Amino acid sequence: MADTFRRLIEPLDEKRHARDRFSCGVESLDAYLRSRARQDRQKWTAAIFVLAEGPTIIGYYTLSSYSIHPGDLPDDLARRLPRYPHLPATLIGRLAVDTNYRKQGFGEQLLLDALKRAFDNTSEIGSVAVVVEAENANAIAFYRSYGFLQFPGNPDKLFLPMRTIRDLFAKSLYEQARSQPKPGQQHALHFTVVQRIVNI
Ligand SMILES: CC(C)(COP(=O)(O)OP(=O)(O)OC[C@H]1O[C@@H](n2cnc3c(N)ncnc32)[C@H](O)[C@@H]1OP(=O)(O)O)[C@@H](O)C(=O)NCCC(=O)NCCS
Repeated sequence: MADTFRRLIEPLDEKRHARDRFSCGVESLDAYLRSRARQDRQKWTAAIFVLAEGPTIIGYYTLSSYSIHPGDLPDDLARRLPRYPHLPATLIGRLAVDTNYRKQGFGEQLLLDALKRAFDNTSEIGSVAVVVEAENANAIAFYRSYGFLQFPGNPDKLFLPMRTIRDLFAKSLYEQARSQPKPGQQHALHFTVVQRIVNI
């Protein structure tokens, strides 16, 4: 874990980052980097962030604005939110780690970075939750392990309320993890996220 937090996550730069070499085992996520990421960036349909070592992309994620229909949320959460026809949210459209770098904490680092960025932006653009679209059962399991909840009626789509994300970072565990990574720390983060969800 120690090295994990020293690597920088930065916007994709097609001139520096070798998109062709990225391989995460899900062809659509590899192809996205090769052939669609540049256009998405240029047309502002998604912001793309990479965790890279020199030109090598270890992993990436995308962020976009999103809209939730309150009727798609669980009743107890919808009741706590204003009764607007659509609620603003932030979408992690894609998140992937190259197969050569799996199970070293990079997926977690990317996810936490995306959550932090989404939360930080709420002071400028409203967002009630972070939504993810899971490509497969593995992705669902990954997000659920961080406390994401499945939309009733659409298990491939999951969300984490912004309030939970605020609580996660308010506990400062993220900053501690960045500065003094210790074995077991990521479990504290998992636990915190899950605990906050349960307490909502
Ligand atoms: C899902 C993915 C991003 C995880 O990346 P990773 O770098 O291997 O994950 P990490 O090493 O950061 O794992 C951190 C924690 O996530 C959880 N996790 C990771 N993969 C998981 C899985 N398939 N199922 C359940 N939990 C998982 C574990 O709790 C792990 O903690 P642990 O060390 O206690 O086991 C990666 O497997 C991937 O890119 N898969 C293909 C693309 C994909 O499915 N993307 C999902 C969004 S579309």
